[in-house]
Amino acid sequence: MKKTYYITSPLYYVNAAPHIGHCYTQVACDTISRFLRQNDCDVFFMTGTDEHGEKIEKASIESGLPKGCENKFVDAIIPRFKDLWKYLDINYNFFIRTSDKNHIDTVKHILDVLNKNGHIYKKIYKGWFCTPCEMFWQQSQAPEGICPDCKRNLEKLDEENYFFKLSSYQDKLIKCIESDELAVRPPMRKNEVLSFLKGNNLQDLCISRPKKRLKWGIELPFDKDYVTYVWVDALLNYISGIGYLGNKKQFKKLWPADLHLIGKDILRHHAIYWPILLIALGEKVPRKVFAHGWWVIDKEKMSKSKDNAVDPMRLLNEKGIKADALRYFLLSQVQFGRDGSFTENLCIEKYNSDLANDLGNLLNRTLTMVEKYFDGVVPKVLKDEGRGVRDGEDDQVKALLREEIKGLADELPKKIKHYIDIEKDGPDFQPALKAIWELINKANKYIEVSAPWKYAKDKNTSALAVIIDTLVQAQGIISVLLYPFMPHTAKDIWSQLGQENDILNIKYPKIKWGIIKPGTRINKGKPLFPRITSE
Ligand code: MSP
Repeated sequence: MKKTYYITSPLYYVNAAPHIGHCYTQVACDTISRFLRQNDCDVFFMTGTDEHGEKIEKASIESGLPKGCENKFVDAIIPRFKDLWKYLDINYNFFIRTSDKNHIDTVKHILDVLNKNGHIYKKIYKGWFCTPCEMFWQQSQAPEGICPDCKRNLEKLDEENYFFKLSSYQDKLIKCIESDELAVRPPMRKNEVLSFLKGNNLQDLCISRPKKRLKWGIELPFDKDYVTYVWVDALLNYISGIGYLGNKKQFKKLWPADLHLIGKDILRHHAIYWPILLIALGEKVPRKVFAHGWWVIDKEKMSKSKDNAVDPMRLLNEKGIKADALRYFLLSQVQFGRDGSFTENLCIEKYNSDLANDLGNLLNRTLTMVEKYFDGVVPKVLKDEGRGVRDGEDDQVKALLREEIKGLADELPKKIKHYIDIEKDGPDFQPALKAIWELINKANKYIEVSAPWKYAKDKNTSALAVIIDTLVQAQGIISVLLYPFMPHTAKDIWSQLGQENDILNIKYPKIKWGIIKPGTRINKGKPLFPRITSE
């Protein structure tokens, strides 16, 4: 039976159009999902949008719509997310909106259960609130009235609200995280959460907003004068979207989630509030929460409100950086979990060196030689393979290089598995891509060193066949292994190598030397990555 994985992205706020920070989480989730599917797993990848709360209400009013028309505002913005995900090849299984009826019904049902079971109480809340972050802060946490996260001015609140007893389960949560029943990763984030939990008494979580202040939310089932705090509403998506209320069979199959992939700014919500809500509900905690770092510009987090957001469509239209090139940059530039600094120039430099020069040229040169020397057909290597490339000392170097290429290619699937494995410390995309590029670079070097054009001049076809075969096999393997990271490019390479079988059908055990059969007619196309010149 296939192993099932349930993977989630956060739900994106729809107060503004998505930027490359949002693309990052999506691309990472998509890459993991594609990788697991390649390993014959059954994957359910859920994403969606977070549509309630003050932030959205404010954005709706600022857009010129009257109060009460927030649904029109969010409906209009959803296609921007869906279109972008389509452009980036994000292959999710379900898109949940917190305005979906099923989600609203589930939230109401759960709050009712929690209330009836004594987890909720009412009291006056006095403290600070940050609207952009939708976060409460205690006086001791924000003595100057400045948000510790986004550094903006906080609002003073003094109002009666409903609270969820977060504090009841502090010790239980510490045990869950310490034992990795809930694995918080990377390890520095596990330490961060544990030291917070051990060093502070958790304050109960305010879960409501009086309607007189905010109407755009889900009404509390036990008090029609209040709506639900947006974070409680949003976190519950992870179970409402897989049938907590209406499809128990699916829920049983998918829960607990194998991975909640998030940015580091929302770690506390996912590693503290969310598991405690689940414990109170009598449900299992998620298996893993992985928090990635931020894309920063001049040391500032990229965000719409700081007016430094980079629009992926602008990168395409003005610079010619297509979806896969952006995917590659985001995944390869930093260790997953750390912050990365984004500049267009860096993105273009990496494009030109890794994609245009290394990957694109390798394919182009190889296919040009297949056309020129073998009429576009992958040659068969004779039994006494290597004859003529092994004669002199120089030729031994070439043979050695060829062995190295084969060795690297044989090891590559295992290496990638190791780095992406979400059941261990993964995912980490950077070393996985580095390993693929090691093979690409070795293959490029092999062309230089073996100088096939000299054998062509000498009409040494058997030696030429060995060289071409080595290059073609390596790239067959590279294309399939690249598929989770750069699906469009992988398909393109695969098809240029003359493969008619859908790349999706090539599962991991089939990724081995000999993947491209002799006699295959190649299908050379346009260069994959034409060079970009930066002004
Ligand atoms: N709506 C909440 C999440 C609710 S999940 C139940 C939210 N939304 S968000 O739109 O602000 O952020 C969504 C994701 O995008 C988060 O994982 C966040 O970390 C990520 N990013 C937003 N800006 C980012 C960068 N500049 N860099 C990297 N990722 C960032 O939080």
